Amino acid sequence: MISIQNVSKWYGDFQVLSDCSTQVAKGEVVVVCGPSGSGKSTLIKCVNALEPIQKGDIVVDGTSIADPGTNLPKLRSRVGMVFQHFELFPHLTITENLTIAQLKVLGRGKEEAREKGLALLDRVGLKAHAHKHPGQLSGGQQQRVAIARALAMDPVVMLFDEPTSALDPEMVNEVLDVMVQLAQEGMTMMCVTHEMGFARKVADRVIFMDRGQIVEDCAKGEFFGDLNGRSERAQQFLAKILTH
Ligand SMILES: Nc1ncnc2c1ncn2[C@@H]1O[C@H](COP(=O)(O)OP(=O)(O)O)[C@@H](O)[C@H]1O
Ligand SMILES: [Mg+2]
Repeated sequence: MISIQNVSKWYGDFQVLSDCSTQVAKGEVVVVCGPSGSGKSTLIKCVNALEPIQKGDIVVDGTSIADPGTNLPKLRSRVGMVFQHFELFPHLTITENLTIAQLKVLGRGKEEAREKGLALLDRVGLKAHAHKHPGQLSGGQQQRVAIARALAMDPVVMLFDEPTSALDPEMVNEVLDVMVQLAQEGMTMMCVTHEMGFARKVADRVIFMDRGQIVEDCAKGEFFGDLNGRSERAQQFLAKILTH
């Protein structure tokens, strides 16, 4: 579903991604971890062409982002993205937040968009909040709305960039629960997260990045199984995040 092929990217003189390659199969859940500044967010943004790449290619469900003929807005409409900060429209109700892109990007009718939005709101456990504005919801609730909003576009893959790292601790699980459910339903997911409990529960593979490179890319069992088999950088990183 996602094929990242020898991708390199520079910001000016600074090389942020170096020859990154990996694949995500349909229905697969891949967790991306690694130290701050290692290029995780950049890699995720490249997948839906929010950032251009200078070398290599990324193919999403058969569509190449490097091909000048590709309709990037159309590609992006099929790739759900959830960021650390939920970025809901503060002046719109939850229902309006869930329908606006369906109306404007997909051209769905009002009633269809509303039904779809409310069904997804129900799925993330927030049906009763449809009429509210984002400011009236907690951070965890807003992030669940952001997930529902992405799902309303019928994405072929979902990308997550540290969706729980800005939340108060007691709200982390309600968001992870929604993500676990999605994973178990067979959604193709690429998730930047340091929630290793989530990784252990639903990831098929774990990618470890360091300084713009994919240093480790292995099955979950292998990643968590034998730490001695991991690269030195991955061992140091895991030692830091797993001891507390
Ligand atoms: N728009 C930008 N312009 C220049 N440098 C950037 C930009 N975005 C990110 N960087 C740099 O690229 C590196 C990787 O950033 P990022 O992908 O956000 O890492 P991560 O998500 O792993 O913390 C960092 O050194 C960061 O400072
Ligand atoms: Mg980041």
